[in-house]
Amino acid sequence: MDSNDLINLIRSRRSVRNFVYQKIDNQIIREILDCGRWAPSGQNRQPWKVYIVAHPTVKRMIAEQSKYGGIIESAFLNFVIFYDIDRGYDRTKDLQSIGAFIQNILLGAHAKGLGTLWIGEILEHKEKINEIFKLSTDKFELMGVVTIGVVDKSMEDKEEQEDRERRPLDEFIDWF
Ligand SMILES: Cc1cc2nc3c(=O)[nH]c(=O)nc-3n(C[C@H](O)[C@H](O)[C@H](O)COP(=O)(O)O)c2cc1C
Repeated sequence: MDSNDLINLIRSRRSVRNFVYQKIDNQIIREILDCGRWAPSGQNRQPWKVYIVAHPTVKRMIAEQSKYGGIIESAFLNFVIFYDIDRGYDRTKDLQSIGAFIQNILLGAHAKGLGTLWIGEILEHKEKINEIFKLSTDKFELMGVVTIGVVDKSMEDKEEQEDRERRPLDEFIDWF
C-alpha cells in the first residue's frame, strides 16, 4: 500500500445509512476493532470500552433509544462505545482519544468494504444505554453507537450526497 491508498481510503469513507442484513465474520470484526486499538490516546490510557451487539433483542433495546433505530436494527451489528472513566486522566484529552479510536474503526471497516454510521444522537438517552448494560454512570459514559454492516448499494447510490460537502481548505487554514 502506498500513501495514496490511505488518502483515497480517508477521502472515500462516508456515512452509510442503508444496510443489507448479512453476517460479518468475527475475525473481520476483530480486525476492525484492532484498528481502534492502535489509535493514539493521551498518556496511552486507551480509555474506551466497546460492547459488540449482534443479538436482535439487545439491538432492539438500543434502537428504541434513538430516532435512528431503524438503521441500528437493519445492520448486522453495532458497536456501543463507552468512555471508561477510571482509565482516563483528563476529560478533554480522553474524549479526543475516543474520537481517534472511533475514526480508526470507521476507516478499518471501510478498508474491509463495510459501511458504518457514527450515531451521536443516541447520547440524548445515554443513561438508558447504561441501564441496558448495567453500567454505573460514574464509571462509564456513552460516547456513541457505530452501526456496521454490508452496504445496500442500490439504496446508497440513490441518496443525495449534498450534505457531505466539505468546507474549502482555505476557509479554515491560515499560514504563519
Ligand atoms: C460525533 C458525530 C455524531 C454523529 N451523529 C450522527 C447521528 O446521530 N446520525 C447520523 O445520521 N449521522 C451522524 N453522524 C454522521 C455525520 O452526519 C456525517 O459524518 C457527516 O454528515 C459527514 O458525512 P460523511 O460521514 O458521509 O462524510 C455523526 C458524526 C459524528 C462525527
